[in-house]
Amino acid sequence: MMSSLDVSLSSLRILFITDLACCTQLPDGLCRLPYLEFIQILRAPAIKRVGPEFMQSYHQHSPRPSQMVAAFPRLHKMELIGMVEWEEWEWEEQVQAFPVLQELMLKQCKLKCLPPGLASQAGALNKLTIYNVQGLISVENFPSLVELELDENLDLERITNLPRLQKLTIQDCPKLKALEDVPALQRIILTDEDMEALPEYMGGINPRHLELYCSLVLLTSIAAGQSGAEWDKFGHVEHVKAYASEGGNSRKWYVLYTANPYSLETNVSHSFMSREP
Ligand SMILES: *[C@@H]1O[C@H](CO)[C@@H](O)[C@H](O)[C@H]1NC(C)=O
Repeated sequence: MMSSLDVSLSSLRILFITDLACCTQLPDGLCRLPYLEFIQILRAPAIKRVGPEFMQSYHQHSPRPSQMVAAFPRLHKMELIGMVEWEEWEWEEQVQAFPVLQELMLKQCKLKCLPPGLASQAGALNKLTIYNVQGLISVENFPSLVELELDENLDLERITNLPRLQKLTIQDCPKLKALEDVPALQRIILTDEDMEALPEYMGGINPRHLELYCSLVLLTSIAAGQSGAEWDKFGHVEHVKAYASEGGNSRKWYVLYTANPYSLETNVSHSFMSREP
């Protein structure tokens, strides 16, 4: 790809790369495509590491005197999916790249940590989606992030310091214990059908909306309102919609709660509640 870049690909805007079966490295000329706006890489099982060569800044020769340009100068959206052996993304804090990246999706890989450069250089990043990333322990310190979607990150323990985060979706992240410093959070959506108690961090955050998909045991305890064990973790949330599934209907049982004025509606039957110890 390198040899032809300056010639025929220089005005490329959208690029899908699928099934890089044997490449051990991502193509390193992509960062210099001046108009590239979207990249999706789908299935690149031999890549273990993405190194600094992927994000090299470069000299622009025209129209003005040579000037350094950050790598991927116009890339808005990137999806890296199915790089199943990918463990390491080396991007130092001061290396300029992805100046206008708004959306990033990482799906099915083993990335152990998000690189420092992503948090400090991708200053336009407002949506981050992380699905099924094994080994990832924390998501923290993204100053511009507005929306975060997390699904099946089995090792994730900590989300902290996301000062602009408004919407957070968490599905099946069973080890998540800490959610802190998210002062702008408006909406949290939690899905885990095995969840039998609300996470402790709920008591320390202040979203306006909570949407919950959980076990019937937990829902029953929420339905008990102030007299239930979960009250301290959700009573302060302005609007709560909570559901438990049965027989393929994900909203078979519900609790709808509003803090002010107080209202709590449910179709969890009293027979369930009286079975609670
Ligand atoms: C509870 O309400 C939902 C939504 O109205 C409904 O689909 C469900 O069948 C109800 N469940 C029971 C057990 O009545």
